[in-house]
Amino acid sequence: MSEYMLAPSILSADFARLGEEVDNVLASGADIVHFDVMDNHYVPNLTIGPLVCEALRKHGVTAPIDVHLMVDPVDRIIPEFAQAGATYITFHPEASAHVDRSLQLIRDSGCKSGLVFNPATPLSHLDYVMDKVDMVLIMSVNPGFGGQSFIPAALDKIRQVRQMIDESGYDIRLEIDGGVKADNIAEIAAAGADTFVAGSGIFGKGQDSDPNGYDTIIGEMRRQLG
Ligand code: DX5
Ligand code: ZN
Repeated sequence: MSEYMLAPSILSADFARLGEEVDNVLASGADIVHFDVMDNHYVPNLTIGPLVCEALRKHGVTAPIDVHLMVDPVDRIIPEFAQAGATYITFHPEASAHVDRSLQLIRDSGCKSGLVFNPATPLSHLDYVMDKVDMVLIMSVNPGFGGQSFIPAALDKIRQVRQMIDESGYDIRLEIDGGVKADNIAEIAAAGADTFVAGSGIFGKGQDSDPNGYDTIIGEMRRQLG
């Protein structure tokens, strides 16, 4: 089993101080930057695009950037994110007419590829593409907003994907996104996840109220992971 990775979602960061916020969570021990891209079409919210990813790279961020596309369609924007410095690019199968082609496009652009599953999206989308994914992302909320509650059915889904990955023999990360907090992260890890997105669970404990806020919450999540 791969090492655990903590992925703060910048959706809950202070966008007016984004570079500093990302520096601070990485300095506090986060491993990877989760970057939520929303288009006001696939999901009812509008966020950030490749320019902001590029700006983080120019700012000096060297940690992996995990681009979670909640946009439809996906193919046109994939090379732009690769160019902008993305490490992982994941998308929802419902948002691509040709899932296999989009996965291949991500790898051909030099990035790691992944598929994202909404709470009601079946895992059968993985059936013929296990050799083309570097990450499977299970949504434990419906995508579009930070700060929602964890949907418990995601735990069963994580267990099923863990088994599929182990049986495949491929090196595939298993990520969970939505409602992850210090008090449920251990249970999610026990179900088989190895990569944990947390937006409000980390940035909600910001440094304005507590100068060691990010150290404390990231340290607590690591302790929970054991
Ligand atoms: C939701 C996004 C998440 C979001 C998670 O559509 O994909 O990454 O930031 O936020 P929390 O951790 O607050 O549920
Ligand atoms: Zn996300």
